[in-house]
Amino acid sequence: SRTFALIPAAGMGKRMGADTNKQYLLLDGIPILAHTLKVFQDAPFISGIYVVSPEAEIPFCRSEVVERYGISKVRAIVKGGAERQHSVRNGLYAMDDLDPEDVVLIHDGVRPFISEAVLEQAAAAAREGSGAVVAVPVKDTVKVAVDGLITQTPPRETLWLAQTPQAFRYAIIRAAHEAAVNEGFLGTDDASLLERQGAKLTIVPGDYKNIKITTPEDLVLAQAFLKG
Ligand code: CTP
Ligand code: MG
Repeated sequence: SRTFALIPAAGMGKRMGADTNKQYLLLDGIPILAHTLKVFQDAPFISGIYVVSPEAEIPFCRSEVVERYGISKVRAIVKGGAERQHSVRNGLYAMDDLDPEDVVLIHDGVRPFISEAVLEQAAAAAREGSGAVVAVPVKDTVKVAVDGLITQTPPRETLWLAQTPQAFRYAIIRAAHEAAVNEGFLGTDDASLLERQGAKLTIVPGDYKNIKITTPEDLVLAQAFLKG
């Protein structure tokens, strides 16, 4: 079976607070989204890429990112939705010539530091099991608090920070998205749509450098990663 990438990049970057959507901010003179797409372009085991963009920015995404940086594996630029889950769903519906067993790596457009090795490990895990989430162990102690009052300290060795890619066989993740929309479930990641159905998903240990560029200080970190 083949491996495809689905890259949601249709957010508005509210927490970044910049004039442009953060996926188009420049790092070393190149849009963040282009850095991300290049990893998939250069990975020989990736057969094709689907990008999700805000509808109004599809022409810009095509000319200024995909064509300009030679991301020739892009098969479609699909319009996004109001929430990330809607954007991913639109992307999955556009991937309709995939085989059920093909693996889809769903990866945030604003995580440019993903490595080819981790992509390959995630794809392999999804091929063998129900799905896989790239994650790193939490470094800090995590508290659960309700209205400012601490209720719990979950044991740290059980806690992981979920990143992307999250990898699934196409039929499995498409069905999970269809079930979620039918049942009105909205999650912040793709794996949660399968967890609620009792699926056995695995963790693929990733890299602390695979940050999601979310707030302005993440840009400083990203610049430091590029230098060093
Ligand atoms: N995303 C998307 N469609 C949405 C919302 C988010 O495709 N409706 C994408 C973003 O473009 C990003 C990834 O999902 O690549 C992770 O989302 P996040 O970091 O939350 O980005 P934004 O939603 O743009 O940022 P914010 O939540 O601060 O507005
Ligand atoms: Mg968001």
